[in-house]
Amino acid sequence: MVVQVNKRSVLLVLLVLLVLLLVSRNLRQAQQLAAAHERRQGQQTQADSLTLLDISAAEPPSTEEPRRLSARTQELQALLKCRNRRLRLQKLQHGSYWVIQNLVMGRESQRMACAESITYTTNGDYTFFDNLETVTERWLGPISFAIHTPGYDLNATLDAIQYVRNCLPGSQLISDFVSFHIYFSNEHMPEYVPRDENDALNWPFRCVDEGGSPLPPPYAAQNRTAMYKVQANLTYPINVGRNIARGAVNTHFIFACDIELYPSLGLVDQFLDMVQRNHSVLALSPGQQPRVYPLPVFELQDGERVPNDKAELLPLLQKGRAQLFHAKVCTSCHKVPGYKDWINRTASVADDLNLFSMTVRQGNYKYWEPFYISDNTEPIFDERVTWEGQSNKRIQGYAMCLLGYEYHVLHPAFLVHSPGIKKPARNSVRAKYAKEMTRFIKTKIEPEYRVLYGKNKNCMT
Ligand SMILES: *[C@@H]1O[C@H](CO)[C@@H](O)[C@H](O)[C@H]1NC(C)=O
Ligand SMILES: *[C@@H]1O[C@H](CO)[C@@H](O)[C@H](O)[C@H]1NC(C)=O
Ligand SMILES: *[C@@H]1O[C@H](CO)[C@@H](O)[C@H](O)[C@H]1NC(C)=O
Ligand SMILES: *[C@@H]1O[C@H](CO)[C@@H](O)[C@H](O)[C@H]1NC(C)=O
Ligand SMILES: *[C@@H]1O[C@H](CO)[C@@H](O)[C@H](O)[C@H]1NC(C)=O
Repeated sequence: MVVQVNKRSVLLVLLVLLVLLLVSRNLRQAQQLAAAHERRQGQQTQADSLTLLDISAAEPPSTEEPRRLSARTQELQALLKCRNRRLRLQKLQHGSYWVIQNLVMGRESQRMACAESITYTTNGDYTFFDNLETVTERWLGPISFAIHTPGYDLNATLDAIQYVRNCLPGSQLISDFVSFHIYFSNEHMPEYVPRDENDALNWPFRCVDEGGSPLPPPYAAQNRTAMYKVQANLTYPINVGRNIARGAVNTHFIFACDIELYPSLGLVDQFLDMVQRNHSVLALSPGQQPRVYPLPVFELQDGERVPNDKAELLPLLQKGRAQLFHAKVCTSCHKVPGYKDWINRTASVADDLNLFSMTVRQGNYKYWEPFYISDNTEPIFDERVTWEGQSNKRIQGYAMCLLGYEYHVLHPAFLVHSPGIKKPARNSVRAKYAKEMTRFIKTKIEPEYRVLYGKNKNCMT
């Protein structure tokens, strides 16, 4: 009995010792692993900032602190396999257009990491600058803005750039986030083009008059008839601008948008959080159809305050102060799949962003012209189509239909058109262009796209 107990105790002691030994070994290993992980993370952070520093090596030494990348940015960068790239000024050609890409850069955008934010890409001429402050304050991420500046319209554009960067309550944010690109046909050269960013930022400007009263923006109450573009009978090459803005970014995700469309608040972080939470919202597996992430678009009665979130939007819809964008003109151009359910679902501020509904651009959605977040790999905008010719987004939609793109609508984020809608000046002129353009699209563009992207009778321009 006694001997047995002793034997048992010895065995027990041995077992306990063994367990202790194993535990301590595991502990040591765990500590080593943790230390190695820390070292790797250190190297990772260093590597990230090195990439940025490498890129900036060709430029004057900067006193900027190396950028600290959040855990989300590092995780998404590994997932997306994207590379960090510093923005820089480049003189490029787009067909017959000269482009000064990144003539003036957003201070933060210039060194944005590829998975850190989403770039809002947009286009216009200097008469569209009145939207920039609102868009910047609501987006709080990089904005890539391509501006058509033929002839002396460039002077007015430089006035406008200086004014928005220096004279507005939102000038700080605009200087941080907005990168300006200019482009003009080689047939309509400006007399003077700034050599570099310093040159552009030395352009004279005034925020106040002699008496110290604030001066109105140079682009306010402008006389469109006096524009070089109008005097020279030029059309607006909207798709050239859209492509330039898309090509000038350093983030993986973009949001190709019209500058008069204002996003609900917090969209950048909501979208990146959604991807971090659930990687399968992206089509990352081979063989999956490509996808983009549209938002519903609403328009407001004149003078209405722009709603910040869905909780503020719903009462406006109920009172008829807001409605689906172009509800009366072209309902099928902007109605998202599941629209009734979308507006019927209440939303609180704390709601996560989610994929709400899905469609391809066929059937009821064959004329859909959505605005969406993407990874910038969708087809380009056809540069032969002008703003006056209309259909300027539908051709891209046609290509995406032929390629089998899926549109996954987001909830509860949305877009609102700036209240007080500008009317196109001369509708008859636009209608004439549109008719010619439609014929050109049917006889020339559609056959080309069928060769490039494939055939599908269910797809429409
Ligand atoms: C535009 O600015 C340039 C440079 O300051 C100047 O030489 C030129 O005369 C200006 N053009 C017009 C039409 O004001
Ligand atoms: C607008 O500019 C055109 C051309 O320079 C001029 O003829 C017209 O009088 C101007 N209109 C106004 C309201 O200033
Ligand atoms: C612009 O068009 C108008 C009317 O079509 C014409 O009278 C004018 O000469 C044109 N101007 C230029 C610079 O082509
Ligand atoms: C992640 O997203 C996919 C694609 O939308 C969806 O099918 C899946 O249910 C989501 N998973 C979770 C846990 O939300
Ligand atoms: C959603 O629809 C139901 C039934 O038609 C209605 O009772 C409810 O008030 C709607 N909710 C919202 C937020 O519109």
